[in-house]
Amino acid sequence: MQDFEFYLPTKIIFGRDSLKRFPKEISSLGKKCLFLYGQGSIKRTGLYDRIVDILKNTSIQFEEFGGIKSNPTLVQVREAIQLARSLKPDFLLAVGGGSVIDVGKAVACGYYYQGNLWDLFERKLVPDKALPLAVISTIAGTGSEINNISVIVNELKRYKLSLRSPVLFPKFSFIDPSLTLTVPREYVAYGVMDAFSHLFEFFMFRDLRQNNVTEDLLVLFMKDLIKWGVRTVEEPTDYYARSQVHWISLLALSPLVRAGLGSYRFLLHSLEHPLSGGYPIAHGQGLATLVRAYLRINRAHEAVRSFFVRVLEVPLGPDLAKRGLKAYDSLLERLSLPKTLREVGLSEDVIHDLAEKAWEILHLWKAEKDINRESLVKIYLEAFGH
Ligand code: NZQ
Ligand code: ZN
Repeated sequence: MQDFEFYLPTKIIFGRDSLKRFPKEISSLGKKCLFLYGQGSIKRTGLYDRIVDILKNTSIQFEEFGGIKSNPTLVQVREAIQLARSLKPDFLLAVGGGSVIDVGKAVACGYYYQGNLWDLFERKLVPDKALPLAVISTIAGTGSEINNISVIVNELKRYKLSLRSPVLFPKFSFIDPSLTLTVPREYVAYGVMDAFSHLFEFFMFRDLRQNNVTEDLLVLFMKDLIKWGVRTVEEPTDYYARSQVHWISLLALSPLVRAGLGSYRFLLHSLEHPLSGGYPIAHGQGLATLVRAYLRINRAHEAVRSFFVRVLEVPLGPDLAKRGLKAYDSLLERLSLPKTLREVGLSEDVIHDLAEKAWEILHLWKAEKDINRESLVKIYLEAFGH
């Protein structure tokens, strides 16, 4: 193993009955909160009413910031920071998916930062102070519930960047997979492919190539995610399958699956961020097409062949690459996901714009090693189905 630090301070309260513990836990954070949520699913499912009742019964004064969009924007974060500054809450409560939680984290540190908020995303400095954040998760996939990352769209630049800081881990996260039973089927599939791509990127783009326990965990989690992810899409009422998917998705972007791998880079996420940051496409869908494109271009590489054999369980032998690519396509079919950006409805005119932005992101992330603009264009072309 290469040297590493393992820090995961979020308390995870997992299970069907987890919300029973919510009043006690929430009371420990203070008496005033800003309650953040999305575009209405929590009102339709009744969760909003449950939370408001709990806040009232525990005498927690609160204001709401609802309407957070999927692929949330800097403008919304700034509005929420303004509201927070007038309210002066003891803590933030984010109820929803990655989008709501990510706004929660950006508000938590933006609250104390007087400069240009985008500086934090461009990694000009790392925030060292944040409001405490509590989370109730309603959809599986991003892993934002237990990590210290916030991903926000800059609507002028039309791409997303991520902000990280040790102060951004939620204090606690309530994960009740039964709250995800109402998630539309396509969003279940996007979540599965988002988590899958996190594991895939750690597996593919890492320093340590020698076989090791973290690599074995990555293989196991990818295989289980395929099994339970497909099951969730096929049997939407299966709580047990959903609980497996939710737990794997939390671990898929945690220190557990990068421990000892040395430096790694999220190449395909850098290519995805101009996609869902600038065009109408879900993050997980963008990644599903980019993973496919990467596999097709690099089908003969050792790591890709190992992925075919160990993760997709394709037997060694002649035509391994062909059978491996077919196995990946069949996974997307079982999840009812389009395989190419063309099928998603995007126009190829945007390829050079995408490559330009991905190049900028790779530089900001200092991950441009071993790649050039031409290879980025090649991946996008393949993702369009060339
Ligand atoms: O807005 P509402 O009405 O709540 O509806 C949402 C939204 O339309 C709906 N939904 C959520 N829970 C539901 C539900 N509908 C019915 N029943 C429920 N229980 O699902 C839709 C998608 O929600 P969203 O929060 O956008 O999805 P997700 O969790 O996939 O988050 C996506 C965002 O996370 C970022 C992505 O880039 C994207 O902006 N990511 C965050 C990461 C992180 N912080 O670590 C890492 C990831 O790589 C990713 O970049
Ligand atoms: Zn992701």
